[in-house]
Amino acid sequence: MALLTLDHVTLGYENLIAAQDISAQVDVGDYLVVVGENGSGKSTLVKGMLGLLTPRKGTISMGDGLKKNQIGYMPQQTAAQRDFPASVGEVVLSGCLNRRGLKPFYGRAEKERAEQAMGLLSIQDLKNHCYRELSGGQQQRVLLSRALCATEKLLLLDEPTAGLDPLASQELYAIIRSLNRRRGVAIVMVSHDVNAALNDARKVLCMHRTLAFFGSVEEYVKSDCGRFWRGGGHAEEESWVRDGGQGDAPCGCGEDGCDHGDKSCG
Ligand SMILES: Nc1ncnc2c1ncn2[C@@H]1O[C@H](COP(=O)(O)OP(=O)(O)OP(=O)(O)O)[C@@H](O)[C@H]1O
Ligand SMILES: [Mg+2]
Repeated sequence: MALLTLDHVTLGYENLIAAQDISAQVDVGDYLVVVGENGSGKSTLVKGMLGLLTPRKGTISMGDGLKKNQIGYMPQQTAAQRDFPASVGEVVLSGCLNRRGLKPFYGRAEKERAEQAMGLLSIQDLKNHCYRELSGGQQQRVLLSRALCATEKLLLLDEPTAGLDPLASQELYAIIRSLNRRRGVAIVMVSHDVNAALNDARKVLCMHRTLAFFGSVEEYVKSDCGRFWRGGGHAEEESWVRDGGQGDAPCGCGEDGCDHGDKSCG
């Protein structure tokens, strides 16, 4: 059963189209990895799935009773966010904000949920530590724990292993794998670490401002797009890059029905 269905979705900012004509589906218990070069529209797509951006064209629909506020989100981190002056417990509990509704304070149910989420990520001992004094790997665990407070159904993770050393990355992947396989939480994960991410994923979506690929991991590894990303190849030699994926990439002019490809509208 589909949790999220994207039907010919176009997303953008003011006069820029960042993701054009994207169709894809995330099923209950799915594991989708979103790959693509810098600026190809990955984070934009995740914001669309989350409902932070409204599609300019197409539709994003939810199934299995999923509501917007039941999606757990771990945003791409910036240096300023790493310096956040709050305790670990407070950061994790803030993931329950949607559950708190109009109540002025968090209640027992939300606090228990935050404790449970910290337990799953083995960070209970860090509860009273200051978030900005933690290592990068510990901070990512805290943020994943926070995202878990919102959902048992769907986690959107934007580069969760960015800046982590290989061991810390492996640990985080193992936690995400266990949430997916043991607890049935569907995962949508943006990653530049393609080969590592593919070990656990079921589906791949490759962005090139348009949709360069969407399908199973098995189909992906055989595709031109998959060979390019997994091999760290040369873009100019790859037909899918030359052709702009499955269609011409928008030039970014924001013009309705733009067919200028990668060239500037001038
Ligand atoms: N808030 C914003 N306002 C205006 N333009 C934006 C905004 N966020 C992103 N963009 C632009 O949209 C395009 C896609 O950005 P996006 O962040 O989705 O890329 P990405 O694939 O996530 O890149 P990265 O791998 O570097 O994180 C880029 O050209 C970017 O400059
Ligand atoms: Mg991004």
